[in-house]
Amino acid sequence: MKSRLTCNETLALTAERTGTPAYIYDLSILRQQLAAFRDAFEVPRFSLLFATMANPSPQILDLLAIEQGGACVNSILHLDLSLAAGISTDKIQFTASGLSVDQMRRLITAGIFVNLDSRRQVSQWLTLGGGPFGVRLNAGALIEKPGDRLGFDQAEFDALRNDVSGSLLAGLHVYVGTNFLDARDMFPTLRSFFRLAAGLPHLQYVNIGGGVGVDYNNVGSGFDINAFGSEVSQLHRQLSPETMLFFEPGRGLAASSGVFLSRVTDIKRLQGTTFVACDASIAIFPRPLHHPESLHRVRALRDGGDQTDVVVVGRTTFSRDILARCKLPMNVEIGDLLAFENAGAYCNSMASHFLGQPAPADFYFPIE
Ligand SMILES: Cc1ncc(COP(=O)(O)O)c(C=O)c1O
Repeated sequence: MKSRLTCNETLALTAERTGTPAYIYDLSILRQQLAAFRDAFEVPRFSLLFATMANPSPQILDLLAIEQGGACVNSILHLDLSLAAGISTDKIQFTASGLSVDQMRRLITAGIFVNLDSRRQVSQWLTLGGGPFGVRLNAGALIEKPGDRLGFDQAEFDALRNDVSGSLLAGLHVYVGTNFLDARDMFPTLRSFFRLAAGLPHLQYVNIGGGVGVDYNNVGSGFDINAFGSEVSQLHRQLSPETMLFFEPGRGLAASSGVFLSRVTDIKRLQGTTFVACDASIAIFPRPLHHPESLHRVRALRDGGDQTDVVVVGRTTFSRDILARCKLPMNVEIGDLLAFENAGAYCNSMASHFLGQPAPADFYFPIE
């Protein structure tokens, strides 16, 4: 199916309606991604949870609910948004760190499954009357390499198993990392994770987090979701077929369903570089600030001739307000529209009040 996000005319007409800056989404793409991700796995009990931190917009959560998908949430706000969209409690997992007593009470009352981050969190949960829970395992510790700040290492996990009865430990969770472009780079951690899970016959579920990457620069062949699903399905065969597999992709599911549109407001030469300013900023399109190593592809919606290297910047005073390093037509003009691709995840959800920029418009093409 031809995406409405790749049709420059459609996008330009949409920008006339919404104004700029604007996030434009195509829900058909998200639905296709959901189907492709599900089809990649062959596991008797499987549940796809969308990682809402990537994009908690009501339209996306509504689609998820219609498609019988679930949600991985890490805040009460995202939990409430997911419930309001009609996602059922058995399809929601709360996976965060450092939960406060208030948060735990709310989750216990609402009957939401949690994946806890430390022994103290487990003890607090049980003191408050929480029932069976999952724990987060640290990805680095599983392969004896330095890891991120999340989860248990082997020593803490062994100590936990002495602290609590096996029947309370309902699930294991691992967050391997994010934006892997090659599924094979995730396999050592996942193999170790499943090996450990296979030694715990009481487990009701395993949850393998996200990590599916997006080829922002369009340099490779993209993440092979089928190879990933096939390996994970194979690993799952070490467990009882009753053990539910949760998979929580964020970026890989939603990024390709959105573009960010902005209009050129200035063009200047400075010390041999062409800077193209537009009516946006890293405050409302923040990924380039957090990940300058994987900038979005940008295209001008008006046909141009020869292209030249430019730096696309925001309309603010912040010297690091750099949105893209790309090629644009040499005859780029003030007023031209620029489309930043793969903007459906970790873009609008990371926007802030910094630099006083007005909130961008939001527009959704419905399912075709
Ligand atoms: C617990 C958990 N699961 C899943 C994800 C989604 O990761 P990704 O966007 O790499 O798929 C995240 C992202 O932070 C996460 O923290």
